[in-house]
Amino acid sequence: MIRIFKLKNIISIKDFEREDIEYILDEASKLEDIAKSREVSKELKGKLLGLMFFEPSTRTRMSFETSMKRLGGECIGFESSGSSSVSKGESIADTAKMFEGYSDALVIRHELEGVSKFISDIVDVPVINAGDGAGQHPTQTLLDLYTIKKEIGEIDNLKIALIGDLKFGRTVHSLSNALGMFKNVKIYLVSPPELKMPQEVLHDINKTNVTWQEVDSIEKIIDDVDVLYVTRIQKERFADIGDYLKIKGAYIINKKMLEGKDLIVMHPLPRIDEIDTDVDNTKYNKYFTQAANAVPVRMAILKTLIKNNPK
Ligand code: CP
Repeated sequence: MIRIFKLKNIISIKDFEREDIEYILDEASKLEDIAKSREVSKELKGKLLGLMFFEPSTRTRMSFETSMKRLGGECIGFESSGSSSVSKGESIADTAKMFEGYSDALVIRHELEGVSKFISDIVDVPVINAGDGAGQHPTQTLLDLYTIKKEIGEIDNLKIALIGDLKFGRTVHSLSNALGMFKNVKIYLVSPPELKMPQEVLHDINKTNVTWQEVDSIEKIIDDVDVLYVTRIQKERFADIGDYLKIKGAYIINKKMLEGKDLIVMHPLPRIDEIDTDVDNTKYNKYFTQAANAVPVRMAILKTLIKNNPK
């Protein structure tokens, strides 16, 4: 059966169906050789990707740039509002219209939820949400799922603990929504009381077959999971630094607590102190592999959206 990828924009993983996710993961698998071989294909030769990053990023911006270049295309853009005319008072809408004129697709990161959706409503080129505030980070979820499938063998029947900042963490919101499309998934939610998973995300999960449980310690669930998905307590999301300092370091994974366990450790990164560096040189560390998997997955996304929606 020939599958078709129907979406023009990637704004929320909730816009996907399971077959859309599987389409991107399959395409990513086919592109992995090019991603790893350091070769350059001609798939997107002559195409330009617009990178509008209003909020800092290392992995997302660099992996989109790498992916576009590996496909033979090029990138334009800015890394912060300060280096664009937004700092002179130009509106986001006008800025997006400029990018629409110059490029074949836009990648947008912004500290406010909904900005990518707003831009997708006013431009004709495909728009990719690279993280909007505490909202969604759908392309991170696709590379997370790609990593889980490669490392565990399947996404169905997964037992996963989401740990850390579940309130503001857009990666865990998107991932929870995506896991709802798979069979027999169990999610343990491990966070300080102040950073629990928002009710609206739980409401979404409740509409699926996923079972979930809130727990207050990693020790209680560590023998029952395939994946520890660790996230950073995000200092930049707190209005009061005192509130951040009270819960900073609440959950820390180290090598000793992992010994003898049959699981992998993932993290969208950046890491502060929530995974001890003594885990880095163990078989449990899949967070650097996960970051590298961003290239084939984002290559698949760019190839699909730009080829399906020629200007
Ligand atoms: N995982 C992720 O979004 O990392 P960056 O903030 O560095 O892009």
